[in-house]
Amino acid sequence: MIEQLRRRLIDANQSDVLRFWDRLELEQQAKFAQQLEGVDLELVQRLYEQAQTTVTNWSDLADQAQSPPSVTLAEQSDPKLRQQAVAMGEQALREGKVGVVLVAGGQGSRLGFDRPKGMFPIAPLSGRTLFGMLIDLLKARAKYYGTRIPLYVMTSPATDGETREHFADVIDYGLPAGDLQVFCQGTMPAVDAKTGQLLLNAPGELFLSPDGHGGMLQAFQASGCLDDTRRRGIESLFYCQVDNPLVQLCDPLLVGLHFLNRADVTTQVIRKSHPMQKVGNVIRVGDHLEVIEYSDLPDEMARQQLTDGSLRFWAGNIAVHIFQREFLEYAARQTSGQGTGLPFHIAKKKVPYLDEQRRQVQPTEENAFKFERFIFDLLPMAQRAVVVEVDAADGFAAVKNAASAISETAETTQAAIIAQQIRWLRAAGVHVAPGVRVEIHPSVAHDQETVRQKFSGREPIDEDFYFTSN
Ligand code: UTP
Repeated sequence: MIEQLRRRLIDANQSDVLRFWDRLELEQQAKFAQQLEGVDLELVQRLYEQAQTTVTNWSDLADQAQSPPSVTLAEQSDPKLRQQAVAMGEQALREGKVGVVLVAGGQGSRLGFDRPKGMFPIAPLSGRTLFGMLIDLLKARAKYYGTRIPLYVMTSPATDGETREHFADVIDYGLPAGDLQVFCQGTMPAVDAKTGQLLLNAPGELFLSPDGHGGMLQAFQASGCLDDTRRRGIESLFYCQVDNPLVQLCDPLLVGLHFLNRADVTTQVIRKSHPMQKVGNVIRVGDHLEVIEYSDLPDEMARQQLTDGSLRFWAGNIAVHIFQREFLEYAARQTSGQGTGLPFHIAKKKVPYLDEQRRQVQPTEENAFKFERFIFDLLPMAQRAVVVEVDAADGFAAVKNAASAISETAETTQAAIIAQQIRWLRAAGVHVAPGVRVEIHPSVAHDQETVRQKFSGREPIDEDFYFTSN
C-alpha cells in the first residue's frame, strides 16, 4: 500500500511529506498513510495553482452590485404581510416542516477557549452554554407549536469527540431520541505558499483544519442527514452558527416569509451600523445574490451612499439562512472544477509547521495557503432568494473574541441578551430598575409575545433575576 501511496505522492510532487517516514513507528505509519489517502492531491494542486494565478477583482464585482431589496422585520413593516407570514410560519412549524442545522465545527481560535465553542458558558445569570441557550429556545418553540424540530449539529474532527461526549453527559439536553444528530465536516490540508508542499504538524501528521462552514453542504449529504430530513418530511432547514445566542431560531415570521415567497434561500441581514462594520456585504448582481467579505470590499466603496444618504452596501450578513431542502439536494448535486460541494476560498495565513529538523516553527509572516468553503456561496445558486432585515439588537450578538477585545466578546454578547430581555419586559409593561440584569429561560417565555403573555401585570423587578421553571 505504501508503494502505491508513494507513487501518488511523487506524481503530485508531494513526496517530501514522507521525509520522516522511516523514523515512524508502524502504528504511526498506518495512521499517516490513512490520513494521506484521505487527501485529494489533485484538488490541492489545482487550488495551489489557482492561488498563484487567480486574482478576483472585487472592485469590479462591487461596481455591478445593487443594494438588495429586503422585506423588513421592523415594526413599521406592512402589518398584514406580517400577520400572513407569521400564520404561515406557525403552520409550517406545527406541521413539522422545519429542521435546524447548527454549525459548530470551527476552532474558535480567537475566543481562546480550549473546548468546542458550543460548550462556552454564555447566559448572563444561569451560565448556560451556547449549545444550551440555542437548544432551550428550540425546545421552547417545539413545545409552543406542539411539534418536533430535529436539530443537526455540524462538528469537525477538532470538536467532534468532545461535543458528542458533552451531548451524552447532558443527555442530549433533553431532546427526544433521534431529534439531535451530529455530523462531522471534512478537513483540508495547508500548503507552503512558496512551494505548494503539504505542511506537517508532526513527523507523521499533516496540518489539517476544518474545511469551513460551507463544508456543511457536502457533510450534510454524505452523513445521510439530508436524506433523514427528506424521510421526516422536513421542507426547510433553518441554518445558524453556534456563536450567536441572540439568533431568533425558527422565528415564525422569518419562516413564514420564506414559505410565502416560495424561496430557495431566505437570508436574514442586519443594516450595517457603519460602513466598516466587520460583516460580509449581501449584494444583488443581476438576478442573484452574492456576498462580498468586508475584507474584500474597497474602503471607498464601503463608504458609498445612495441618494437618500443610506449606505449602498447596507446589508450585513449574519449567517442566518433558511434553505429549502430540495434546493440543498440540488446544490449538493452540482460539480465544478473542484468536484462536488461549494467552491474553496484561498487565504494566505500564518500556519505553524515542522521544519527539516523536526522543529515546530511559528511563522511571523503569512507562509501558507489554507482552503475553506463558505456557506454564503449557496446564495448565488438560488433561483429565488429573499433578504429579510432584522434589527441587530434582536438577532445578532456573536461571541468571537477573548475578553481583552473591544467587540464581540462574552461581555458584549451578555449585555445584548440582557438588553433584549429587558426590552421585552418593558414592552409588557413591567418596570425593570436600571442596572438590573435579567435572564428568562425560554421554557418560561421565549419571545416578545410570550413575555407579554406571561409577564403583563407583574410587580417591578428591582434586582438581578433569573426566571426559570426548573
Ligand atoms: P468563524 O468563522 O467565526 O470561526 O465561524 P470560528 O472557528 O468559530 O472562530 P475563529 O475564527 O477560529 O476564531 C463562524 C461559525 O462557523 C462555524 C463555527 O463553529 C461558528 O459557528 N464553523 C466555522 C464551522 O462549523 N466550521 C468551520 O470550518 C468554520
